[in-house]
Amino acid sequence: MSGNIKHIQEQAAEQIGAASDIACLEEVRIRFLGRKGVLADLLSKVSSLPAAERPAFGKAANQLKQELTQLFQERFNQLKNDLLSAPSQDIDVTLPGVARELGSRHPVTEVVDTICKIFNNLGFKVFEGPEVETEHNNFTALNIPLEHSSRDAFDTFYLDCKKSGLSDERLLLRSHTSPGQVRIMKQYKPPLAIIVPGRVYRPDAVDASHSFMFHQVEGLLVDENVRFSDLKGVLEHFAKEMFGRDIKMRFRPHYFPFTEPSAEADISCIICKGKKNTSKQKKCSVCGGKGWLEILGAGMVHPAVFKAVGYPSKKYTGFAFGMGVERIAMLKYGINDIRLFFDNDIRFLKQF
Ligand code: PHE
Repeated sequence: MSGNIKHIQEQAAEQIGAASDIACLEEVRIRFLGRKGVLADLLSKVSSLPAAERPAFGKAANQLKQELTQLFQERFNQLKNDLLSAPSQDIDVTLPGVARELGSRHPVTEVVDTICKIFNNLGFKVFEGPEVETEHNNFTALNIPLEHSSRDAFDTFYLDCKKSGLSDERLLLRSHTSPGQVRIMKQYKPPLAIIVPGRVYRPDAVDASHSFMFHQVEGLLVDENVRFSDLKGVLEHFAKEMFGRDIKMRFRPHYFPFTEPSAEADISCIICKGKKNTSKQKKCSVCGGKGWLEILGAGMVHPAVFKAVGYPSKKYTGFAFGMGVERIAMLKYGINDIRLFFDNDIRFLKQF
């Protein structure tokens, strides 16, 4: 029997030494030390030996098991070290790891969310309308006359297809988010307060301040006794939340077909703080020395719009406003070219 043990020991040592990788070594280990392996087989024969020989045999077999276990462990460590240090054709473990870049939200998304949150806190609900609109929702229901220049193909992208069904109305890519107001008013009765964020399209030549696609956020509030002062209060609150408590706002008379009276709202320049000059007595380059920056259009909803959506215009009044998201983002982050938002240059996007 002891000859047998010696033979097993030699065989195992040889095979362990010859195992060229961890998988081969594992096969050898199972062959010798596995549940149905050579050693298990050997130990099962103890009972067939004369009683006097059993202790010595048992001791020798256990010693062999310990020896082999140690040999396996040593060879395993050796193979593992070889694997880590040896230059391999497939992997060079000495190369530095590849760091994964963490993504960040697009600045336009970030600003849309901030705007929505500010109005949401005042009770405005967010509504999103489709980007493909009817001429009716984009123009007619908003009191924009047939001869208005914004209806021109130079100012609006018209689609080749017509609306399916009975109407032969033209379809277009919405040129502002105001058709969102029309959709909501056709669907719900007052009182209501909504904001409509979304993409809008205009066939403008692309330059530092124009893009054929940009984002707007529209606001609408309709109830009984809504006044222009309510509009001013809401928008001033928005400007201070967005740009800081020390920001001032002013309203200039303007014209929009869908609001009466209408206004454009400016904020005091966030760079020169309305002083018109920078510290070196140079004209502020952001506001051009005016001290004010235009940020949105607004007004009281025109009775003709209420009529188009079936609201009694004697009973209800309301205000509406619309702003360009990229413009707000450019002012907030000091960005001087709108194209940066759409180039998808990771060096730009990473900063937000
Ligand atoms: N729709 C207008 C535009 O795109 C903005 C606006 C919205 C003005 C609502 C007044 C009221 O310029």
